[in-house]
Amino acid sequence: MSYFITFEGIEGCGKSTQCSLVAEHLRNQGREVVTSREPGGTEVTGEIRRLLADPDSELDQLAELFLFLADRAQHVASVIGPALARGAIVISDRYSDSTMAYQGYGRRSRDDLGWLRELNDRASSSTVPDLTLWIDCDIEVGLSRARKGAGGPGDRFEAEPLDFHRRIRDGFADLQATEPGRIIRIDGNAPLEAVTQACVDAIAARLPS
Ligand code: TYD
Repeated sequence: MSYFITFEGIEGCGKSTQCSLVAEHLRNQGREVVTSREPGGTEVTGEIRRLLADPDSELDQLAELFLFLADRAQHVASVIGPALARGAIVISDRYSDSTMAYQGYGRRSRDDLGWLRELNDRASSSTVPDLTLWIDCDIEVGLSRARKGAGGPGDRFEAEPLDFHRRIRDGFADLQATEPGRIIRIDGNAPLEAVTQACVDAIAARLPS
């Protein structure tokens, strides 16, 4: 039976590592798992990822938003949708909640949250995750970890002040409070193995057998 899991969180929260560890765990149980990421999870959206990553692209906020949405539309149409249709488990490293947290809370389009929700719904053909694991870690810890790796779209965001990242973290907390059934908070400050275990347990409690 198909199942759609997304991982969310601030820069350097460790979600990419957790995505691979959780996918491996589920594969070991004999499940078909497709892992992907946003932005740039399809053959044709590498160019969008490149645009978003380029420190020289002085992107207008609305242009940035629509690039993430274009990326998502293609991702759902060519990767997520087909995989779910054939009954796979799909794990995506970031998805619609990142747009709410970064473009909504981070870029201060809070008045536009309803509009962003509608846009997300359109861009994703109403494909909502069955479960979202929000890896919540300290902003300072996340940022110092993230700044060690380089070269992705995250770099443009990492350069933003601490306050920007605090708004994003608090945005995720708001989203979790709004949809506690779908979004589960995982303590990302715990040791790596404990975080993986918490993710695996959250999935096991919900995944249809
Ligand atoms: P990336 O380099 O892939 O890093 P990370 O491991 O943090 O995901 O950067 C993706 C960046 O894009 C990240 O800073 C979050 C941001 N983002 C948005 O602002 N809106 C979105 O809708 C998505 C999917 C990502």
